[in-house]
Amino acid sequence: MLRKFHSLPGLLAGLFLMVLSVTGAVLALAPALERASAVIPASGEVSIAELADRIVAHYPGTEQIVREPSGKVIVYYSRDGQAGADLVNPVTGEGTAPYEPSAFFSWIKDLHRAFMLDDAGRALAGVLAVLMVLLCLSGILLIARRTGGWKNILRPLSGSGGKRIHAELARFAVLGLLLSALTGSYMSAQRFDLLAEAPDTGPRFPADVSGGQPSPVGTLKALGNFDLGELRELVFPYPGDPQDVYSLSTSGGSGFVDQATGELLQFQPRSDGSILQHWIIRLHTGEGLWWLGLILGAAAMTVPVLSVTGATIWWQRRRSSGQLPDNADPAQADTVILVGSEGNTTWGFARELHSSLNKAGFRVHCSEMNALAERYPHASMLFVLTSTYGDGDAPASARRFMARIGDFRAEKNLRYAVLGFGDRQFPSYCQFALEVDAVLARKGMNRLLAIELIDRCSAAQFSEWGNRVGEVIGTPLFLNYCALQPATVKLELVERADYGIAVQAPTSIFRFKPAEQGGWLTASPRRFKALPPFEAGDLLGVIPPHGQPPRFYSLASSANDEIVEICVRKQAGGLCSGYLHDLKPGDCIDG
Ligand SMILES: Cc1cc2nc3c(=O)[nH]c(=O)nc-3n(C[C@H](O)[C@H](O)[C@H](O)COP(=O)(O)O)c2cc1C
Repeated sequence: MLRKFHSLPGLLAGLFLMVLSVTGAVLALAPALERASAVIPASGEVSIAELADRIVAHYPGTEQIVREPSGKVIVYYSRDGQAGADLVNPVTGEGTAPYEPSAFFSWIKDLHRAFMLDDAGRALAGVLAVLMVLLCLSGILLIARRTGGWKNILRPLSGSGGKRIHAELARFAVLGLLLSALTGSYMSAQRFDLLAEAPDTGPRFPADVSGGQPSPVGTLKALGNFDLGELRELVFPYPGDPQDVYSLSTSGGSGFVDQATGELLQFQPRSDGSILQHWIIRLHTGEGLWWLGLILGAAAMTVPVLSVTGATIWWQRRRSSGQLPDNADPAQADTVILVGSEGNTTWGFARELHSSLNKAGFRVHCSEMNALAERYPHASMLFVLTSTYGDGDAPASARRFMARIGDFRAEKNLRYAVLGFGDRQFPSYCQFALEVDAVLARKGMNRLLAIELIDRCSAAQFSEWGNRVGEVIGTPLFLNYCALQPATVKLELVERADYGIAVQAPTSIFRFKPAEQGGWLTASPRRFKALPPFEAGDLLGVIPPHGQPPRFYSLASSANDEIVEICVRKQAGGLCSGYLHDLKPGDCIDG
């Protein structure tokens, strides 16, 4: 359920989210670029009065001074009847360049905010922001589940390929993405009046203006009391109108300054709502917080990769666990197959069982163990096929099984058989299957067949189990499981170190590198790009000869070592350990 909740919004909105995130990442660069080009005096070095004084010396027709969150100061002026706007150096008051907002950033902003579609596009961007919140929250829960709980959330992740990339990137980016998505949703909700905007009308025009002779702006006491860093905007009085005043807006509030006495009139501090609103905009855009902008930008850049890897994972999962033909309704089925799987290989076995039972005339319902119904009214046979994961834990599609079994009401004639899939190399061999078998027995159900455990996907064991089931149900079953071989890389044995021969415990350290495959892979770092990223402790699956399923060995090296190292003890009669121990340097394996 949680996985569906995560993948559905991702699949529906993937393309749009990519546009939103890439444009967001570009926009996130703006605060850092602006900050890099802005001259920012130290706090307390320049007051607003001093700034205005210096600017007026160079721009006698100054009408307005604006300080942007990045620290850039812009003067709007009139000269010879022509209006102009320049960037100024706040220390000298001199103009540095004409002020021309970047056409490129304006275009990107339009694309980001509204997909160039006005209100419809803005609404779409708002919906996408909400979907992103859902994706982030469900993603965090999935990572916590995968790592075995909140305490382990930063624990190294196992696995490889797209799944590993997806989980690692998501863990790195999720807080940044969540912050952008929450603030974006808030801003959209305000835009469409779903949330009230903080009223910030500013103070009323003052009634008690002195009307005296204007003083030079640099001498005005009120302006001298504010630091340049607090300035948002200073609007000059209309020239020649002694009743007019300076309008001042600062980070703390807004008010007026008498142009003759320099008194601060009607200053109104910002409301809490307005401060919150301002912070939400800053946290979304990184305005004035260039470092946050860069973090949010980096997080946003992961979205295209997350979308592509997410869609690939969904497709692979669907393909391997996907729709079974002729899957009976659970309420009508006479036979039920429940599947517990993490990497989907168990689904291949379940499909084969489903198809054979269907051919034998049974009405078979097959689903994941998490989807255990409260009852199967017409079922007389229940098969549970499950792998074991982690350290004897339930695989992903069976994690909720134990919680649901309490509500399960077994019909009197319902008999069950559990088939565990695991690997003898793990100390908790098929542990979860054993627990499931025990819990069904505790519910008072009768076994159709005693539990059996299949080691490393043995097709032969599975087929024998099928024969036994066939005998019990009185209909021969020919279970012929063909494993899909996973994608492999050819590894060449570079060297081996042998120990323990004298004490009859032959153990060898094998060091492999990706085998040369034509010219372009010959340079060593490039060859290692042929491998998925791996770390010491991850598992290397080695394909033994004669098409047997892979055997797993713990890696003793990481991708940075540029060598694939495993340590293998030769087992008496061991198919894969014997195969590895017969290798000479220069021989190749598939792994
Ligand atoms: C990370 C990892 C942990 C595993 N833990 C166990 C375990 O504790 N006990 C066990 O018997 N098998 C364990 N296995 C082996 C799997 O159960 C076995 O490969 C199974 O066939 C996988 O089936 P699935 O792909 O349907 O999940 C583990 C495999 C992996 C990759």
